Parts: sequence; structure tokens; C-alpha cells
Amino acid sequence: MRLVFLGPPGAGKGTQAEVLSRDLGIAHISTGDMLREAVGAKTALGVEAKGYMNRGELVPDKLVAGIVEERLKRDDVKKGFILDGFPRTIEQGKMLKQAMERLKARLDAVLYFETSEATCIARLSGRRVCKKCGAIYHLKNRPSKTAGKCDACDSELVQRKDDNEETVKNRLVVYDRETKDLIDFYKRDDLLRTVSGDLDVGELKGIITALFEREGLIRA
Ligand code: AP5
Repeated sequence: MRLVFLGPPGAGKGTQAEVLSRDLGIAHISTGDMLREAVGAKTALGVEAKGYMNRGELVPDKLVAGIVEERLKRDDVKKGFILDGFPRTIEQGKMLKQAMERLKARLDAVLYFETSEATCIARLSGRRVCKKCGAIYHLKNRPSKTAGKCDACDSELVQRKDDNEETVKNRLVVYDRETKDLIDFYKRDDLLRTVSGDLDVGELKGIITALFEREGLIRA
């Protein structure tokens, strides 16, 4: 199964992608995670991406599309993948289409997480992530068992640099300006399926699973 998760920052794309990719045995490809890794490792890509990310702006299309196309050639995507946070511009959407053609593959669906701004802000301000394994928590909605420690690997939980109030505001503006048009782009290709990102994690996962069953993407 080949999926794209689309929606504003804080919609819960990463949380659902983490759980569903594990259940379905498919790859979870998050451009945000890949870029943060590059920033942490101070690679040439990371050095270039850092400023954009800290300001809540998008990293230039060519840089991001290049790492995604390379990633899609790896063996672990053969069973399928969830692209989380890519594409984010019409240009990236076109690039993905061409990359899929080169790989002789096609997308099965684009899941749009329709989410209110108030939900996004509340989610991002309370988000904490594991410094080591990247697991996602929320101070209220999904607290770890021990405060400040990851349930999976016991490492420290931290706040993402771009989850401060000012950058969050800009990320939401950038989403409206650059990414929202992809909703119509994928509607035209009859790939868009909409779910409510405002629901809680378990309920939303149930709705997504039922949708995949109805579409014949997974067996009931
Ligand atoms: P990226 O890391 O992709 O961030 P984002 O799209 O802004 O999305 P988030 O990770 O903030 O939100 P999410 O929807 O995954 O929510 P999550 O599940 O974590 O990108 C970061 C930056 O990298 C960009 O700003 C840009 O600079 C650059 N970048 C990345 N991709 C790029 C691209 N393609 N092109 C150019 N630049 C790119 O959940 C949020 C919180 O809510 C968590 O605390 C979670 O526990 C909680 N939560 C989740 N779901 C629920 C729920 N249903 N109910 C209650 N709480 C929930």
C-alpha cells in the first residue's frame, strides 16, 4: 500500500503513520524526521535546511524531492510506504508523480487530516518527542508513563525547536499558503480521502482502518 498523509502541522499525521506503518508492515517516510536527522548530523543538507526549519519555512523543493526519491529506491519500501509530510507544494506533488512513474508504481490514496487551527496549536504546544527514537508524546493527550522519559527506550523527552509559539504560527501560515492547494490537486486524481484530525488517536485510527477496508486496501 502506498499512501500520502496530508494535513496541517499538529494534525496527527506522524502519530497515525507511526502506528499504522507498524501494523501494516510498511515503511514510514517522514521528510521532517529525515531533515531533522540531517540537521543533527550536520550534513550539507542539514546545514542548508536548518534555518528554514527553525523559521517554520519550507526547505526548497529540489532538496526535499531528492532525498525522497533516493529513499523510495530502498528495499524496505517494496511492501509499501506512508509518506508523512511530503509532498507539501504543488511542485513536490508533480515531482512525486514523476518519481512514481520512474519506479513504475502508483499511489493508492492520499489521506487528508482535516483539522481545526485550535487543535493544531494545542497539540504542538504540548508535544514532546524522544531525543533518541523519535517516539511522539503529548503532555496531556499522550503522556509517557514516567514524566520526561520515553516509554520505549527510557531516553529524555524534548520539545521540538520549531514548536515554539511564533514558529508554530508561521508554520500554519506556510501550510495555508503552500500546501493547501494539494487538496484539490489530489481530488482531481481521485486519490483524496478526508478524515477528521480533531478526533482522538484511537478513534481516528479505527476510522482510517475502516476506510482502508472499504477501499479494499486491507482485508477486514
Ligand atoms: P514536519 O516534521 O513534517 O512537521 P509538520 O508537518 O509541521 O507536522 P508535525 O510533525 O508538526 O505534525 P503531525 O501532523 O505529524 O503531528 P504529530 O503526530 O506529531 O516538518 C518540520 C519542518 O521540516 C517543516 O516546517 C519544514 O521546514 C521541513 N519540511 C518537512 N517536510 C518538508 C517538505 N516536504 N518540504 C519542505 N520542507 C519540509 O502530533 C502532534 C501532537 O499531537 C503530538 O504531541 C501527539 O502526541 C498529539 N496527537 C497526535 N494525534 C492526536 C490525536 N488524534 N488526539 C490527541 N493528540 C494527538
